Amino acid sequence: MQIEGDTQGLAQFLDDGITYGDALDLLPRLPQSSIDLFFTSPPYADARAYSRIHPDHYVEWFLPFAQAMYKAARESGSLILNIKNRVAKQGPLKGQRHPYVYELVIAIQRLGWRWIETYIWAKTNAVPGRFGPRTKDSFEYVYHFARGVKPYFDLDAVRVPYKADLAEIARRKMDRLGRRNTEAGFGRDRTKTYLLGGADPGNVVTVPQTYNQYRGVAHTAAMPEGLAEFFIKVASPAGGIVIDPFAGGGTTIVVARRLGRKAAGFEIHEHFVEEARRRIAENSAMGIPGYLFKVG
Ligand SMILES: C[S@@+](CC[C@H](N)C(=O)[O-])C[C@H]1O[C@@H](n2cnc3c(N)ncnc32)[C@H](O)[C@@H]1O
Repeated sequence: MQIEGDTQGLAQFLDDGITYGDALDLLPRLPQSSIDLFFTSPPYADARAYSRIHPDHYVEWFLPFAQAMYKAARESGSLILNIKNRVAKQGPLKGQRHPYVYELVIAIQRLGWRWIETYIWAKTNAVPGRFGPRTKDSFEYVYHFARGVKPYFDLDAVRVPYKADLAEIARRKMDRLGRRNTEAGFGRDRTKTYLLGGADPGNVVTVPQTYNQYRGVAHTAAMPEGLAEFFIKVASPAGGIVIDPFAGGGTTIVVARRLGRKAAGFEIHEHFVEEARRRIAENSAMGIPGYLFKVG
C-alpha cells in the first residue's frame, strides 16, 4: 500500500523544528491524516510589507493552504486560525470594514472543514491610533475548524479558578436542594457545578498583546505565547503533532514543544527562519509555564 505524503519528511520537519520555504510546497509533503493540530496566524490582508495580500484576493490566496491542511489533518484534527479584520483602503468599500475574514470562514467551511467555534482574543493593552470613526482594535478572531465530527477537545486542560470562594464552594457541594425548579423548567443541579476542578473559561480569551517584548524576538507580528498555549492545550493531545505553516518567529513551535507536543513550522522569509531557529534552541531548555491567559 502506498502512503500518500512523506513519513520521513514529517520526521525531518519535526526534527528540524522550522523549515525554510513556501507552505504551499511543504504542506503536501505531510502524510495524509497525520496532524493533530494546525495552529497558525497567517499574514493578515493588506498588512505587512513581508507578504502583502489584497483583501479582495485573500480567500483565493488562502484556500489552497486550507485544502492541503485538510488532507494532512487526522480525523480528530483541527485547524485553528488567528486572523484580524481590516479597514478597506480603496475601492467601493473604502473606509469600511472589509468582509474578507467572514468570506474566508465561509469558504473554509465549504471546503469541508467543520466550523466549531469563533473565539475572541481580547487584548488588554491594544495601542491607540487613528482608526477613523471607531475605537482602537482591541480584539482579534481565532477560528476553530475541525476535520471530523469528533475533534480532540480537552476543556479540562484550560479550566480556570472558580470565582466563588472556598466556603461557598464547600456549601454548594453539601446543598441537598441543588436542583431548583424554576418557572422556565428544571434548573441545573448546582451541587455539581464545582466538581470539575475549575471553571469553563468561555470563548473570550484574554491575553495581552506582545510588542516584541521577548528578548530579541525580531518579528513584527509575533503572537503572545499565552494565546498559543491556550489553543494547543485545548485542541491537541499530549505527544500529538502540531504544525504552524506560517511560523514567523516560531511561537507555536516553542510553546507546543514546551507543552510536550511534537511541533514544526514553515516560514517563507529567511530572516524569520533564523529567528525561529534561535528561539527554538534557546527555549528547548526552559520549563513549563503556568497559565498565561485568563478569562475575559
Ligand atoms: C503573522 S506572521 C506569524 C507570526 C507568528 N505567529 C509568530 O508568533 O512569530 C505570518 C508569517 O507567515 C509567513 N508567510 C507568508 N506567506 C508564507 C508562505 N507562503 N509560506 C510560509 N510562510 C509564509 C510570513 O513571512 C510571516 O512571518
